[in-house]
Amino acid sequence: MYFPQFRARRIRGNETFRRMVRETTLSVNDLVYPMFSAFGTGIKKEISSMPGIYQQSIEHIVEEAKEVKELGIPAVLLFGIPETKDSVGSDAYSDTGIIQETIRAIKREVPGLAVITDVCLCEYTDHGHCGLIIDGDVDNDSTLELLAKEALSHVKAGADMVAPSDMMDGRVAAIREVLDENGYDAIPVMSYAVKYASGYYGPFREAAESTPQFGDRRSYQMDSGNRLEALREAASDIEEGADIIMVKPGLPYLDILRDLRNEYNLPLAVYNVSGEYSMIKAAAANGWIEEERVVMETMTGFKRAGADIIITYHAKDVARWLKK
Ligand code: PBG
Ligand code: ZN
Repeated sequence: MYFPQFRARRIRGNETFRRMVRETTLSVNDLVYPMFSAFGTGIKKEISSMPGIYQQSIEHIVEEAKEVKELGIPAVLLFGIPETKDSVGSDAYSDTGIIQETIRAIKREVPGLAVITDVCLCEYTDHGHCGLIIDGDVDNDSTLELLAKEALSHVKAGADMVAPSDMMDGRVAAIREVLDENGYDAIPVMSYAVKYASGYYGPFREAAESTPQFGDRRSYQMDSGNRLEALREAASDIEEGADIIMVKPGLPYLDILRDLRNEYNLPLAVYNVSGEYSMIKAAAANGWIEEERVVMETMTGFKRAGADIIITYHAKDVARWLKK
């Protein structure tokens, strides 16, 4: 009679053993919670495709930021919905813009919570693209100047870290230079280095009111079939001075995350984007999947693939579940 020599089940038979040999664990320290700050007062509007996530005016943002901090989540990632949009995204780099005011309020009312800002123009432009439009497409080099200005104004308002998501070439260098020139050499840049043109951003564009009014973002965001190009994007951002690099979206691009983990030794972030969140929420609401189990499995997958930082709309729930 044949007996297997290798019995994997020996160390799988009870939770104590499983706990002892588990290779990947999740911590509240890994999480970043994205928030949408809207101009005005008394606003708390749930995003229909993202149950539990709101567009909120500053006083409500501050309230939720307190909750985030109490849960032990180290940082929030801020997006702004300005009062008015124009062709050059003026509110993005106005010192009294929606994000600048939000940063100041959080830093004042919730000290100790790190504030990371998304640096991009699409929420602030009336055409909804991530930069200046010239001849029907986003112009790279003139956009760099505005992004640098935007990043600087976020940092002046108190941002602890900036995260450019526009996918213009050279923006990390442009931002690094302007921050350094102004004495902010200690402020890290988390670059959305590998950001794919993705259908998974659909719900976010409702949340941030940033849907492009013509065309799409394929001339600046990456093509989903490309893997070697991801390595080039990461290499150039690292060379330009990125302190943390990000892969976005998460679930369809875990191979890319692993490639970067194998190639580089700086901290890696993953953005578990809006569409990924919405799918889980919708299936859970229908009783088709167990939300907690599926979310925790998903988070573990990100860490196993190589992420150090997980930007996720599930962050508050994950923090609570981790406490159990
Ligand atoms: C802005 C930006 C987007 C996201 C983060 N920053 C949308 C986009 O590029 O269209 C997506 C986040 C999400 O889907 O949760 N450039
Ligand atoms: Zn954008």
